[in-house]
Amino acid sequence: MASPGIAVVFYSRTGTTKQLALEVAKALGADGVELTEERGRGGLLGYLRSGFEAARARTTTLRDVHREVLGYDLVVVATPVWVSAVCSPVRTFLRRHGGKFPPLAFLATMGGRGSETAFQQMASEARRSPVATLALTAGDVRAGKQMEKLSAFIREVRNATPLRTASDG
Ligand SMILES: Cc1cc2nc3c(=O)[nH]c(=O)nc-3n(C[C@H](O)[C@H](O)[C@H](O)COP(=O)(O)O)c2cc1C
Repeated sequence: MASPGIAVVFYSRTGTTKQLALEVAKALGADGVELTEERGRGGLLGYLRSGFEAARARTTTLRDVHREVLGYDLVVVATPVWVSAVCSPVRTFLRRHGGKFPPLAFLATMGGRGSETAFQQMASEARRSPVATLALTAGDVRAGKQMEKLSAFIREVRNATPLRTASDG
């Protein structure tokens, strides 16, 4: 069966991680896969619940388990940093498929800090170390800054993606 290449899986509450994830997907010629929930996270209550879930390493209910992602050659997983932790929707996705992933790379967006802990948690939930990581501030994503870091990340991901021969499709 033909191998489908790279997937970029992301969750985004307010659009910043989505913007970065879709940019990276475009640059890699990858499929974008958005994690969605039935229950919204808008307003102050949504914000507080998000912080609480991330701080307590809680999971949530996703609309789809996205098992198809396990068939890709490499998966980039993108999260917003919540209280110096991975967000609960991304934690849910990684925990569900932990130990079954192809090579992984991690992306994070944040106000300013906490991505290192978030990346450690992601590797632990996935039971796999990433081949590349990149964290950008929301300000830099919106302003289109840090393009060098972004290019370096994209290069690392490309280099780490298993090569396919023409007959693989
Ligand atoms: C509940 C919550 C907790 C957050 N905690 C942090 C944090 O610890 N460190 C940080 O730099 N930014 C923190 N942020 C800011 C987000 O990481 C940042 O705005 C991110 O780019 C949002 O991505 P999104 O628009 O894709 O949801 C937090 C945001 C939320 C909603």
